[in-house]
Formats: sequence, C-alpha cells, structure tokens
Amino acid sequence: MANLKNQIEIGDSSTFFINERLKKVASFIEEESRIIDVGCDHAFLDIYVVTNIPGTYAIASDNKIGPLESARKNVKKYHVEDQVQIKLGNGIEPIDETIDTIVISGMGGWNMIGILKYQPYLYKNVQTIILSPNSDANHVRKEIVKLGFKIENEALIKEKNLIYPVLVFKRGKKHYSKKEYLFGPILLERKDSLLMEYLNFQRLQKEKLLKILPKNYIKRRWELKKELKLIQKCLSLFL
Ligand SMILES: C[S@@+](CC[C@H](N)C(=O)[O-])C[C@H]1O[C@@H](n2cnc3c(N)ncnc32)[C@H](O)[C@@H]1O
Repeated sequence: MANLKNQIEIGDSSTFFINERLKKVASFIEEESRIIDVGCDHAFLDIYVVTNIPGTYAIASDNKIGPLESARKNVKKYHVEDQVQIKLGNGIEPIDETIDTIVISGMGGWNMIGILKYQPYLYKNVQTIILSPNSDANHVRKEIVKLGFKIENEALIKEKNLIYPVLVFKRGKKHYSKKEYLFGPILLERKDSLLMEYLNFQRLQKEKLLKILPKNYIKRRWELKKELKLIQKCLSLFL
C-alpha cells in the first residue's frame, strides 16, 4: 500500500487537500496502473493519483454533465490533461481496453453492483477493482466475488464520524463465510481497530430498523435478526 501525502503541490501555487477517504482509496492504486474512476465528480481522486503515484493514467468518468464540467476545470487547473481523460458515460461504458483497474467510491453499494454486474465483457482486461461503497458492503463483497474476483485487501476509514469501507478485489476464486461477507475477511482477521466501532454502528442501525419495520416484513425481519446475532458474535471476538 502506498504511503501518500494529503496535499498536492503542482508547479505553481496550486494546491489542494484530498480527504482521508479518497486518500485511503488512492493508497491501494498500484504504480503504472491505468484506472477508470466511475462517478469521478470533481476528479480530485484522479488528479491526486496521477500526481502522486508514478506512471498512472486515469479516465475520469461520470454520467452527469455538471460534475464533469468541474472535473474538466480541475484537470486543467492542475495541468494534468495528458494523464487524466474526462469522459461522459453511464457506469463502466467509458472504459477502454488499456484500463486495468476500476475505482468506484462515494455511491451506494447496490449502484456499484449494478454498474459492474451487467456488462462484465466491457472489463475483461481489468485485474483490480477498488470500491468504497457508502452502504451495503456485504452485498458488494458477495456480488463482486460472484463475478470472478477475490478479496485482496480491505480497510476502514473514519471521516466526519462515519466509517467507510474500502474493498480491493483481484481476479481469482475464493470461498467466504457469511460472517466474512458481512464484516470483511481481512478486517476480521486483522481485528481492525475501527471494526468494533463499525460493528457497533451497524448494530444500532439494524436495531433501529428492526423496531420500525412492519411485522409483515417477515423475511427482512428474520434476516436482520440473523445479522444482529452475527454482529454480536463478531463483537465477542474483541472482548
Ligand atoms: C457522491 S459523488 C462521489 C464522488 C467521488 N467518487 C468521491 O468518492 O468523492 C457520486 C458521483 O457518481 C456519479 N454517478 C452516479 N451514478 C453513476 C453512474 N451510473 N455512472 C457514472 N457516474 C455515476 C454522480 O453523478 C456523482 O458525481
């Protein structure tokens, strides 16, 4: 994992600070990789990556014109037009065959799954997928594993009192237990220092949901209760 600084200084007096979440995502990007950043918004991640990680190149893509305009301005401002290509398009569609790494961060887990699940032929050359979902990390793990990837690395990052997972997948096959899908095989193995806080947060969310979920949502209520039991079991690992 690369050890990166938060501040970028480029030639003139142009500097900006990248947030800890995006910095963590960037720390998993390898030297010489060619990434597509789906849902780039301002393209801060891409500018940061190409100016900090040697030999990298990025397609910064988004499905909305507004964010892409701000991406275009930033790429120009920081003089990285040769290393960051701005592309409008839905999901993975703006990819080209030279790209080896997909990065998606800052959107819901099911949106990420939808983006990756239905057009796998578009990213046959991709070896690495780095995802930082705002929700449903357990489903993200499970669905990406189904697509022929294994979980290579994981991290949790706390920002503004919220904890975000970062998941790194590489092509390959591996079997995971339900508990590993829910909380992350590597986070569990490492007894990650933020995992206990993350588990407690998840426990509170699920308990709240269970309280307001109508009694006739039998299946969801049953799933929630099972998930709560698993959380308790995982929390007991930390005692
Ligand atoms: C909250 S921003 C996240 C920006 C940045 N990736 C980050 O982590 O800070 C989400 C961005 O994803 C874009 N987006 C959402 N769904 C998309 C899709 N299906 N294809 C491409 N971009 C999408 C939105 O337009 C928005 O700019």
